[in-house]
Amino acid sequence: MSAERPSRPRRVRLVGIGSGHPDQITLEAAAAIESVDFVIAAAKSADDPLLEARREICRRHGNPELVAVPDPPRDRDDPTDYTGAVTDWHDARAAAYEQVLLERAGDAAFLVWGDPAFYDSTIRIVERILARGNVEFEHDVLPGISSLQVLAAAHRIVLHEVGQPILVTTGRRLLEAVWQGHDNLVVMLDGDLACSALLGQPGWLMWWGANLGTTDQVLVAGPLADVLPEVESARARAKAASGWVMDTYLLRRPAVP
Ligand SMILES: C[S@@+](CC[C@H](N)C(=O)[O-])C[C@H]1O[C@@H](n2cnc3c(N)ncnc32)[C@H](O)[C@@H]1O
Repeated sequence: MSAERPSRPRRVRLVGIGSGHPDQITLEAAAAIESVDFVIAAAKSADDPLLEARREICRRHGNPELVAVPDPPRDRDDPTDYTGAVTDWHDARAAAYEQVLLERAGDAAFLVWGDPAFYDSTIRIVERILARGNVEFEHDVLPGISSLQVLAAAHRIVLHEVGQPILVTTGRRLLEAVWQGHDNLVVMLDGDLACSALLGQPGWLMWWGANLGTTDQVLVAGPLADVLPEVESARARAKAASGWVMDTYLLRRPAVP
């Protein structure tokens, strides 16, 4: 009599993979990747460098098949309906990933950049797939090292002063947060360096990092007005070196004693 694998529900694992370097994978993330039959990953282009980073992680950890899914286009034409455009995009992604799960048997993983809890919608998209009701599975989430942690470590800083809060936000919402009085902020998703609008306000300090954790990591720190030109040129250098650039920064306006 052959030993059969005990039947258990199919599993979809959402694995945080750190922010750019394969050595940032935790031991439990590595075990999770080794445990699955295939990995589903969005491909933003034919030569998407972030897809290649995921391929390298698969090669290192059990070599599950990587199923690249062309990323549905996101409508950026109507800036007033940001939420609607993102919802449509998530629906399209959910439909595309559902198709992969219908076509293949076995457990699957999504390799989520950084940590799944920060500015990433894989959890929401997986919940959407379940809500569509066409495919059944259990899912779990494994944390990863977020770029905001790598930023703090690279600069050897604590992200807030003793006992003080920190606001994590996006470039789109930075100015609104500053108007609300926040003076210790980590900013992500800011390709346009929205902090340039704060140059007229004295006292802001910046700790900035691009391609954190990779061999092309660049760091700049100092008073915002002094370092912004350097940040702009360092951004371009990181893009040229890696073929992609992502940056995160801490902005702080210390209280005047
Ligand atoms: C879609 S969000 C994903 C965030 C991710 N879940 C995390 O925990 O870092 C993408 C943003 O994360 C930040 N980011 C991700 N990887 C980065 C890296 N290696 N260096 C600097 N910033 C990074 C950038 O602000 C980028 O615009």
